[in-house]
Amino acid sequence: MPNVVEVEGLEAYYRTPAGDDIKAVDGVSLAVREGEVLGIAGESGCGKTTLAQVLGLTVQKPLYVRSGKVLLEGRNALALDRETMRREVRGKTISTVPQGAMNSLNPTLRVRNLVIDVMRDHNPRIRRREAVERARERLDLLGLPPRVLEAYPHQLSGGMKQRVITVVSTLLDPVLLIVDEPTSALDVTSQKVAIKLLVDLLAKRIIRSIVFITHELPLLRHVADRIAIMYAGRLVEVGAMEDIVFRPQHPYAEGLVGSVLVPEPGMKERTVTGIPGRPPDMRRPPAGCRFAPRCPKRFDLCDRDPRPFGIDGREVWCWLHRDQPNAERP
Ligand SMILES: Nc1ncnc2c1ncn2[C@@H]1O[C@H](COP(=O)(O)OP(=O)(O)O)[C@@H](O)[C@H]1O
Ligand code: SF4
Ligand SMILES: [Mg+2]
Repeated sequence: MPNVVEVEGLEAYYRTPAGDDIKAVDGVSLAVREGEVLGIAGESGCGKTTLAQVLGLTVQKPLYVRSGKVLLEGRNALALDRETMRREVRGKTISTVPQGAMNSLNPTLRVRNLVIDVMRDHNPRIRRREAVERARERLDLLGLPPRVLEAYPHQLSGGMKQRVITVVSTLLDPVLLIVDEPTSALDVTSQKVAIKLLVDLLAKRIIRSIVFITHELPLLRHVADRIAIMYAGRLVEVGAMEDIVFRPQHPYAEGLVGSVLVPEPGMKERTVTGIPGRPPDMRRPPAGCRFAPRCPKRFDLCDRDPRPFGIDGREVWCWLHRDQPNAERP
């Protein structure tokens, strides 16, 4: 399958008032393929939202891109001028449902006006009627009555809000939709509903690929085609969903799967271990393998940065697999 977007050598840092850099994403290259749901998982603070912001072209101070590219059909979207980005790319080619979107819908706007704002931001000449008509079709597709257009966010149930966010973020038929933990941290059930809606839109070919970000790895089990696991600003394992969930190879990925509190069938043989310790301070990440301070399997090679090794079509950044060939980057 061709790639819809590629991130190449991305370093995205936050500049603190004291002048330090928080190296939130620190050397990530990743491709999103046509037609896939790519899950991105990892503990809180490992750089998922930062990666989503760069991929979604919504970078704002204090975040800045120190180096790297976001390639869309061969051109670097990060180098586009603001106007081209707004008119041609954001919302239309790539659209984002930001972290916590469920809890941050503008309470003073009826759904009708939310929709008009989104359409007008992209095309100032669009008629209100046209925008609303488009939204009505989409609401219908997601099983919502047209009266939802007249509602304020607080008048909607959680499930309805979820659908409204889905409608608003896909109004322009984006090629790629990035969804970053749209519901509150603990609400796994609503996240399942959210992702199911999105997969339906993918099946209907309204969108062509999805990046779904979560710290709940098992959530990705029924929907993701591939999973990328991040730790401390870097990728540690990328591969097919089945491989990662059932046969993780990187010690951190193993820990993430093992820390699932209610294992799903097939995952039962794993003990609930959790991962002792905390991610590093991203102002001064450890040299070598960043997971080493917490890794139960570390050994003398681990004070050097691991290369990606290829295991059955996946990539694993861990010296334990040094007898495997170097991974071929997609
Ligand atoms: N606005 C910000 N200013 C400074 N540091 C930030 C900001 N947002 C996030 N960070 C830091 O960047 C790192 C990655 O954060 P984030 O991308 O939000 O991770 P995740 O989404 O995986 O929880 C963390 O160390 C976090 O504290
Ligand atoms: S490279 Fe070493 S420290 Fe890092 S995950 Fe592998 S074994 Fe652990
Ligand atoms: Mg986040």
